Amino acid sequence: MEVACGTAREAGQMLMEGLNRGMKISFKGTVDLVTDCDILSQQMIFERLSAAFPGHGILAEEGLSHAIDSDYRWIVDPLDGTTNFAHRLPFFCVSMALEHRGKIVLGVVFDPVRDEIFTASEGGGAYLNGRQIGVSRISDLTRSLVATGFPYDLRESRINNIRHFNNFLTRAQAVRRLGSAAIELCYVGCGRLDGFWELKLKPWDAAAGGLIVQEAGGKVTDFAGGAFNPYHPEVLGTNGLVHEAMRQVLVPPEKKSSISRSGRS
Ligand code: IPD
Ligand code: CA
Ligand code: CA
Repeated sequence: MEVACGTAREAGQMLMEGLNRGMKISFKGTVDLVTDCDILSQQMIFERLSAAFPGHGILAEEGLSHAIDSDYRWIVDPLDGTTNFAHRLPFFCVSMALEHRGKIVLGVVFDPVRDEIFTASEGGGAYLNGRQIGVSRISDLTRSLVATGFPYDLRESRINNIRHFNNFLTRAQAVRRLGSAAIELCYVGCGRLDGFWELKLKPWDAAAGGLIVQEAGGKVTDFAGGAFNPYHPEVLGTNGLVHEAMRQVLVPPEKKSSISRSGRS
């Protein structure tokens, strides 16, 4: 935890310097972009983790898969909220999780703009800047503030979340799209949001935030209600009380889950 927090803070500092200095942007797809800061942050995190834990594997978003025969693997998003970052919209973070034999046992999400560090370890509760956090107590979806995000293939794929978004607009109190899945999950953990859903997420988007929601007393599943698995593209994280109501908006009782593990319908 100490190494993860120190590294996430160092990476966040690096992102803030990039934000102030200006970053180089390149495109992975029509709207999917990456900046030099994503890469620099990832390099630094890789160096720190591999020096501290030479026996651990590391999986990170920007093409980094340090696969070694180990029970431990770090799952890292060196910059979650890249589109915000590239537009200088101050809402992004560094997300790091540790997986042990397929289970997420530690999560750290650092928001350098607000100097907020969310942490959780399996069975040890969830914390914001060292103070224990808990989910909200709202039990009525119509009183709930919920958030979501959209996949980068929004223009090409029909599995694009627009129908779910429309449905929640008239079921929840309000719907937000903040642009960082990791922070949105942390906000469910500390009660600023009552629920969050997204499809086509990657493990580095949800691994740390998912544990933080669970350790804060919330619930995380796929849309069918299956146990939280960061390798599953569907993530529904809530305060627990509105979980079933949100699940029923995503998968009306007569329908099955809209997306399979492979990401296809
Ligand atoms: C993205 C953000 C965004 C979510 C996308 C993610 P990135 O991650 O978390 O909120 O809607 O699905 O890919 O590309 O900024 O690391
Ligand atoms: Ca991400
Ligand atoms: Ca990223």
